Amino acid sequence: MSPIPNGRVIFNEAPVAYPDPRTTLVYDTSETIDLETSPLNGGILVKSLVFSIDPYLRGRLRSPETKSYNEAFALGQPIRNFSVAVVLRSENANVKVGEHVYGHFPLAEYHILKDLTGVRKIENKEGIAWSHYTGIAGMPGKTAYYGWKAYAKAKKGETIFVTTGAGPVGSMVIQLAKLDGLKVIASAGSSEKVQFMKDIGADVAFNYKTESTDEILKKHGPIDIYWDHVGGEVLDLALIHAAKFARFIEVGLITGYNSGGIQPVKNFGNVLSKSLTIQGLYVGNFEEQYGEAFYNDIPGRIARGEIKYLEYVKHGLQSAGQLLVDVLKGDNFGKAVIIVADK
Ligand SMILES: NC(=O)c1ccc[n+]([C@@H]2O[C@H](COP(=O)([O-])OP(=O)(O)OC[C@H]3O[C@@H](n4cnc5c(N)ncnc54)[C@H](OP(=O)(O)O)[C@@H]3O)[C@@H](O)[C@H]2O)c1
Repeated sequence: MSPIPNGRVIFNEAPVAYPDPRTTLVYDTSETIDLETSPLNGGILVKSLVFSIDPYLRGRLRSPETKSYNEAFALGQPIRNFSVAVVLRSENANVKVGEHVYGHFPLAEYHILKDLTGVRKIENKEGIAWSHYTGIAGMPGKTAYYGWKAYAKAKKGETIFVTTGAGPVGSMVIQLAKLDGLKVIASAGSSEKVQFMKDIGADVAFNYKTESTDEILKKHGPIDIYWDHVGGEVLDLALIHAAKFARFIEVGLITGYNSGGIQPVKNFGNVLSKSLTIQGLYVGNFEEQYGEAFYNDIPGRIARGEIKYLEYVKHGLQSAGQLLVDVLKGDNFGKAVIIVADK
């Protein structure tokens, strides 16, 4: 077989504010790969089936001089993200042709993996869609599941406020909170997202663009848990409407992702006066502790229809640049994924 073009998503230009769908990430087919003869050097050759597109990618699209908790992507190189791929060739005794692997892979149609650290084989006995393993049964689902176990300290009858409640993390949190008997207030940015949040159990679901978060929290609060995905003004309002001893779980600050990240907090005094706990959550801290429990529990619950979940699906790596902008602007209705191949 002769070499074929291997489409990849390259970090082309660091954005100043929102990424530009045409110039920040570009789809490139200049590299070729020979699927039969390219050397594996003890590794595996995989074909990508699905990639996740997540809000945190925005933070890695920066110049390396700007320091952060994660590395900047290298200009001119493919970006990486969570993916499920099928093994086409293997020189690793632990991995067989036809098996499926999940990991943090370069956005390319095909790639050779030499180091399998952090790569997980997915058997998918439950028969759910492979894409689910990058969303509700992948990193975003884990974020909700791990954070809930580690930090929520939920008690039946308490009230939680969840932002971006229609996304993969928020919708999982809503469902976990309902299972534990909490009253759930949830916000999102469109009427269809509001309907979805009601369908999965939110007691109070509202569109923060058309209704006042302040009024909603005044009427339905105070809140015992604030699950924060947005930061900014909403965080300030949650501080005002917090109950004594409330837990603030800081998971995302998306209102600042495209504006330099500076978000002054005005109502910090409530932390002292109400004895609040503010806890940062990073999903990567809990893989060893809760990873097996997650995989033993969540795919089965998805297969049985006990956990509801939406996907916002695009096809082909050409869609990556636009899809990232959709996620950062809230135009995704459900977990953003790119299907690269069906099998
Ligand atoms: N700490 C961790 O380990 C970790 C891991 C995974 C995710 N996260 C964070 O968790 C949050 C949710 O992630 P996800 O994967 O579930 O994302 P998602 O909900 O699929 O997508 C992000 C959503 O944020 C909302 N949004 C965008 N700009 C906004 C703004 N200016 N103000 C308010 N909302 C805005 C949009 O929904 P609306 O239509 O509702 O506005 C958009 O759909 C993100 O902040 C992400 O960075 C953190």
